[in-house]
Amino acid sequence: MFKFSIHSSQMRRLAQFLLALVLGLALLTWAASSVVRTTAQEWFERDVNSRARLALAGARPSLAAAWEGDAAALRTHIAELNRDERVMGVALCNADFTVRASTPGFPEAFGCWAVGSRVRGEEGWSSVATLPTGRASVNAVPVAELGFAVLVQDLSYIERRESQAQTILVVTFVLLAALALGVPMFVAQWVRSGRRAEIRKVRLEMEEQTEESSSLQWNAERLKRTLSRHLHGEKIVILSNREPYLHVRKADGSIEVQHPASGLVTALEPVMRACSGTWVAHGAGSADRETVDRFDGVRVPPGEESYEIRRVWLTEEQEQGYYYGFSNEGLWPLCHVAHARPQFRAEDWRQYREVNQKFADAVCDEADSDDPVILVQDYHFALAPAMIRKRLPAATVIVFWHIPWPNAERLGICPWRDELLEGLLGSSILGFHTQLHCNNFFEAVDRYLETRIDREHHAVVRQGHRTLIRPYPISIEWPVRWAETGETAAESRARVFADLGLRPDALLGVGVDRLDYTKGIEERLEAVEALLERYPEYRGRFTFVQLAAPSRTKIERYRLLNESVEQLTERINARFGREGYAPIRLLRAHHEPPDVFRYFRAADLCYVSSLHDGMNLVAKEFVAARGDLKGVLVLSEFTGAARELTEALIVNPYDLEAASEAMMMALRMPVEEQRDRMRSMRAVITQFNVYRWAGKMLEDAARLRSQERVASRMSARSLVG
Ligand code: F6P
Repeated sequence: MFKFSIHSSQMRRLAQFLLALVLGLALLTWAASSVVRTTAQEWFERDVNSRARLALAGARPSLAAAWEGDAAALRTHIAELNRDERVMGVALCNADFTVRASTPGFPEAFGCWAVGSRVRGEEGWSSVATLPTGRASVNAVPVAELGFAVLVQDLSYIERRESQAQTILVVTFVLLAALALGVPMFVAQWVRSGRRAEIRKVRLEMEEQTEESSSLQWNAERLKRTLSRHLHGEKIVILSNREPYLHVRKADGSIEVQHPASGLVTALEPVMRACSGTWVAHGAGSADRETVDRFDGVRVPPGEESYEIRRVWLTEEQEQGYYYGFSNEGLWPLCHVAHARPQFRAEDWRQYREVNQKFADAVCDEADSDDPVILVQDYHFALAPAMIRKRLPAATVIVFWHIPWPNAERLGICPWRDELLEGLLGSSILGFHTQLHCNNFFEAVDRYLETRIDREHHAVVRQGHRTLIRPYPISIEWPVRWAETGETAAESRARVFADLGLRPDALLGVGVDRLDYTKGIEERLEAVEALLERYPEYRGRFTFVQLAAPSRTKIERYRLLNESVEQLTERINARFGREGYAPIRLLRAHHEPPDVFRYFRAADLCYVSSLHDGMNLVAKEFVAARGDLKGVLVLSEFTGAARELTEALIVNPYDLEAASEAMMMALRMPVEEQRDRMRSMRAVITQFNVYRWAGKMLEDAARLRSQERVASRMSARSLVG
């Protein structure tokens, strides 16, 4: 096999090799042709001589008979011998070397005197000589005792033929050499120019993307355009545990559509509305089964119906082992530094594997091509990427890990850490919120698996498959649809104050979370307590309202948190509350986004006190809600959001004094400063919105797909046997 390369140095080497080959062949041909020429000449001459001797020998008796007779009869005989066009002349010489008869034009060089002395015995004499007309052969035979006959033949035709053959040989050789040199060079050049065209195309696409990235702000339209331009409008399939819309049966028997409290849903739902496609998720709502079609699908959002949810049903056992067990008692505490001990049970792991396979199969069933774009979300599906890749090797699987990724040492305590890493490396792109989490992942792969880490391109290569590991800080849609209700901040404030029974001069703080121990809700309430303790002027005036969506309540740790938050609230309220005033208002219920946004608009401050959080979109939603540029965000330094929203008051939630101080500063902050900070944070989110988050991943995926396509086309073309 001969491998044509595309590099110019290799082209040069190929040309040198071919040139040497052709020169070698030319030398060989020249040597061979000389040998052939000499041999052929000898053969021809021998042939001519023997034919001349035969002719003379045949004519001898008749010549002898006619020798003494009539001269005219003798001339007729020699004219007979001279009939062949290559015979230059025939002469009959007497024994005394005088001429008896000769044909006209007989060459003088072979006259009777010149030849006679050489003719001996019966066999006569023969020789080759060069005449001015070219080479000639001379044959002389004795005729009885009377004399001898001489026959001269022209040999110059042999040279002429040889030189014609030589010309044909040279022309053929030149043609073959041109072909030998030209064809491979042409093929190599063609392959090269083909690749150049491919590279130009990829570069052009990249330039277009860069141009677009730098010039325009991301929005739903642009995301849609990116999908159709760079991914040919391919239908997107999202996989997550949590579905974006739950159908819930209410006490009065009616069915309500709920938006779950989930950062993942907050981010992905607008993306799906922009792109359309299918969202595969666990059907967890109490009326979910009643609202699907026969393929377990339901079109959403209600009234808009722009994409489909494909619900996957789980048995109680599966939900227990996969969701409550391995995902939320194992991985969740493993990935968060929040002092909950991870529980790893073999049965949970078995269910996790089984359920991952079930969802991976559902996703593959939804794919409408053999190279779909699939977005796998979060820690519930660490194994699904490899499972999907097994069924659809050409799929572009983009995984986003919504929670922090632990350092290698911490990950090491999980008995199935290798399997988790291997599962995730089935993806094409693996995204985390921050570079730190990417670094942790590289470290873990380095420590636990046989892989090649390509640090230059931020990729891991395992068994020939490459996975890009990149930070993609998640965000929210911009503008947020819930912020555009038509209700002003003052109206929202009035409504919330009325609902909570607050005095008009009251100050309001807000916290919005799932009731989860990573959110630092206990520390938050304690910080409020510290505020009231240290700054008595806020007693009776400052109220902190905590919207707490019950979450994972089947898990002991969450039940304990519930109790603890409730007890803390009671204690602080007992300590600082009075008739008509409770400093903490704990609203433990699911709140729909319009209500949440009303609280955001009504508040003087929002405190996000996560002990550890991948990003925390509540912080961004609060900023998005404040079109009036008022309100202050107090934000834990342990959130991903703290890296972007630097104009928030950044605190360590464990440091209760500092946190209470930050709340005090927020309550006293001049309106001008509030505006400046809010304006700047809004500018960040406007630009770094969720369309950009998804767009960047899709652009990277598109680039990867086109690079892979070029690579596979090139490798198909590069082998020329
Ligand atoms: O930030 C996203 C997230 O924390 C997910 O990781 C999680 O799935 C979701 O919010 C809420 O949790 P759950 O789906 O268990 O209600």
